Amino acid sequence: MTTLYRFDEAQRIGGSHAVAVAHTVDAADPAAGGAVREVIERASEPQQIQTILAARGIRFEQWRADVALPDGATNDAILSAYAAELARLRAEAGYPSADVVRLVPDDASPAWPALAAAARAKFLVEHRHAEDEVRFFVEGSGVFYLRFDDETLAIRCERGDLLGVPAGTRHWFDMGSRPHFCAIRVFGSTDGWVAEFTGDEIATRYPIADALAALPALERK
Ligand SMILES: [Fe+2]
Repeated sequence: MTTLYRFDEAQRIGGSHAVAVAHTVDAADPAAGGAVREVIERASEPQQIQTILAARGIRFEQWRADVALPDGATNDAILSAYAAELARLRAEAGYPSADVVRLVPDDASPAWPALAAAARAKFLVEHRHAEDEVRFFVEGSGVFYLRFDDETLAIRCERGDLLGVPAGTRHWFDMGSRPHFCAIRVFGSTDGWVAEFTGDEIATRYPIADALAALPALERK
């Protein structure tokens, strides 16, 4: 379920509101086992998520994404399956380039765990881009963390979610310990994907995607 999590970045670790959540990314996590930020608000209603994100300049929409992608589908095949959506994005915002990022568990391959861990580590560090980062999730899920002055929002994006992160927004992405997602990315320029790393280890102070997924379900009103 698409879910938005809000954290108070000013929260003092070790204070009465801090909770210990298993934090298991060894390579990227010098604070493994320590207290991490607590979720102070959660939302899973799309309209509410959109409102919260829009107030912070982040675009969130839910589009149809019901094409079943076969294993081994080429990037071109995926882009053409969603040609209409791509054309719409291009027409709206003039993003000239697009690519596909897809990770699907491959338990038959001995190389897959290392490949998945390396892919995960690459995005799990705070960075920003000189261009907007727009992702349309067409399979699986992954969690985007968006950092603002005194708060951080994490959004678990699922199939059909379109997320537009404006240029300069500090963020990181956790695809989880068993990555399974496909996102179409569109850019304002061919080098738009270049990440400028901030050097801040903030990502280690937040619950990873697996920990967020393990939180008890929200009660339905
Ligand atoms: Fe990014």
